[in-house]
Amino acid sequence: MGLTRKDLLAIRDLEPGEIQTILDTAASMKEIASREIKKVPALRGKTVVNLFLEPSTRTRTSFEIAGKWLSADVINVSGSSSSVVKGETLVDTALNIQAMSPNCVVVRHSASGAAHMLARALRCSIVNAGDGMHEHPTQALLDLLTIREKRGHLDGLSVAIVGDIAHSRVARSNIAGMRKMGMSVTVAGPPTLIPPGVEELGVKVARRLEDAVRDVDVIMMLRLQHERMSANYIPSLREYSRLYGLSLEKLRGARDDVLIMHPGPVNRGVEMAPEVADGPYSVILDQVANGVAVRMAVLYLLIGAKGAEA
Ligand code: CP
Repeated sequence: MGLTRKDLLAIRDLEPGEIQTILDTAASMKEIASREIKKVPALRGKTVVNLFLEPSTRTRTSFEIAGKWLSADVINVSGSSSSVVKGETLVDTALNIQAMSPNCVVVRHSASGAAHMLARALRCSIVNAGDGMHEHPTQALLDLLTIREKRGHLDGLSVAIVGDIAHSRVARSNIAGMRKMGMSVTVAGPPTLIPPGVEELGVKVARRLEDAVRDVDVIMMLRLQHERMSANYIPSLREYSRLYGLSLEKLRGARDDVLIMHPGPVNRGVEMAPEVADGPYSVILDQVANGVAVRMAVLYLLIGAKGAEA
């Protein structure tokens, strides 16, 4: 059975049962990656357009691989190769893409709300691949899948999310998803990078990284989102790294079986020491591998299982 909704725009919109369905479908699709011939006919005859107007390595590549493994026709449109650079609006670009009858447009944009705007304007399914500081729903889903895979369940687990919470769509989506799945979340970072009133999202706030990471099941480190900063939020990278960078030393108070996550791209030596990123607790590359499975599940549930047409 597919999702009954037309679009995937935000984790905040999803019921826990829908998250469960996506994770279960993704788990069953992981096996395709180990096949000699990585191809199933689930989306044969469907067209997916990846409209990426902001840089991406993991999300764009994994949506492309996901669509191709499901036999969809996948077309990539990037910022520099689109007519947006000639002054066309996002909605006009999208309406022109719609005129070519795709089944799904996957969109990444620097403006919060861009995916919602396209969802209102277009008949085909829209998947939000990251909109400004708002949400990055498939990132949170692949993070949840990775945690569930490693721990066997989600309910009752505790997570510390550390770094630039204020500008992070990954934090916003993960907080929403983790709370819906019965997990407890503590955020930590420089006071200037913790949004006022974040407790209303159901999270605790720790002032020090060492306090946040003590005894949690999962530590999720975030990149400083310089591209979204309109002012100097930290005195220097060196100071940030000293106080909020995850080193082996700072991991001393953490659990022996803690999972260390990062959505990427990692700035080694800033938010995380190389020996932590590459160490035994790190599941960063498992997250990337699970990104393909989650994106296969999302595309299948939106446009395959129920046959949504443009
Ligand atoms: N995590 C993430 O969104 O990575 P990319 O920016 O490379 O897609």
